[in-house]
Amino acid sequence: MKKQTRVTHPKEVKLLDGNDAVVSPVYRSVKFTYPTIADSLSADAKEHGFDYTRDSNPTTRELELLAAELQDRDDAIATGSGMAAIWLTLLGLLEAGDRVVIFVESYRPNRVAVRRFLPKLGVQFTMLSVHDLDGIEQAFAQDDTKLVLFEAPTNPMLQVPDLAAITALAKRHDVITVLDNTFAGLHNHGRYELDYFVHSMTKYANGHGDAMGGIVIGEKQRIRAIKPLATNMGAVLDPGVAYLMARGLKTYYLRYERHSENAQVLAEWLAGRKEVTRVFYPGLKSDLGHALARQQMTDFGGVVTFDLDADKDRTWAFIDALELFTTTASLGSTESLVAPVKLYLGTDLSAEEQTRAQIGDSTVRFAVGIEHADDLVADVEQALRKVFG
Ligand SMILES: Cc1ncc(COP(=O)(O)O)c(C=O)c1O
Repeated sequence: MKKQTRVTHPKEVKLLDGNDAVVSPVYRSVKFTYPTIADSLSADAKEHGFDYTRDSNPTTRELELLAAELQDRDDAIATGSGMAAIWLTLLGLLEAGDRVVIFVESYRPNRVAVRRFLPKLGVQFTMLSVHDLDGIEQAFAQDDTKLVLFEAPTNPMLQVPDLAAITALAKRHDVITVLDNTFAGLHNHGRYELDYFVHSMTKYANGHGDAMGGIVIGEKQRIRAIKPLATNMGAVLDPGVAYLMARGLKTYYLRYERHSENAQVLAEWLAGRKEVTRVFYPGLKSDLGHALARQQMTDFGGVVTFDLDADKDRTWAFIDALELFTTTASLGSTESLVAPVKLYLGTDLSAEEQTRAQIGDSTVRFAVGIEHADDLVADVEQALRKVFG
């Protein structure tokens, strides 16, 4: 064989039977083949085989099955980002003439997807508060209402919706429930009768802020209903990134626990400061969502939001004065982050809607990392001192 041919057909190194890699290999191949066309058409190949990575890939599949198990469901589709996962459920489940229920407390891009883009496809929406159970029941009872998209707790204001109540109402009115469970994580909320879970795996699953991905999780027949669109749409997770997600998941429980412990320390410390007028963290006993969150979740996550006794300029000065908290979007990575909430997450809302969402000029969101809590508290204290004296 000429070397020009050899480089495109290198000798394969096959492992001996029983000689296994301890860490799963990354299947970078886009294409998969069989010895014969007939083999590729067998029932086994159809059920468990691989053809083309836009449809499925062994590395990505391993991640999908692991994430589904953590979320107490049996199937999943991994996507290139959290928003791709949201869009897969919306496009996969809705058609023109349908209505979606969304919440004023939702993550801004989720709200934007439903309010700005879905109407172009003939899908209308009703926007309520997650606490308005009467309004939710009325909206669910409308004939055209097909789906509800919500978060628990919500990003950025950490409001805790009543999952048992909302899922019961949805069942009664035949409304599909899609929970964006990014904040609570893969280990929470699995026991509720939710039809689809969506996660941004960019956050706690990956955990290191160096890879983007998303996932839709549900029972097999629900995932099967949206799989053809996923393959056709092509917003798939690259197998190299799936590997990073799977590696991140090995330390997922350790990290989530530490994020939660650090967030609890900071929330309690902030609640005792005169410069802070209100703290939103479901782990705080004084938080309005605490009792519900204790029933629904095993721990409360790494995001703490609070209001300063300050105007916008002093709030931004406080954020700029922080040294260990980096000013940027995102959450769930090892390092602590800070965001001016109105600027980053509230600009699509009218002034009245911002008030309903409890977002003000002095609202600050911490995405607490896994550093030592003492250093984080010391950093916040020096920033407060710098601005408030
Ligand atoms: C609650 C929530 N849902 C969805 C997303 C979107 O995820 P991604 O940035 O991976 O598209 C985010 C990102 O911050 C989020 O916080």
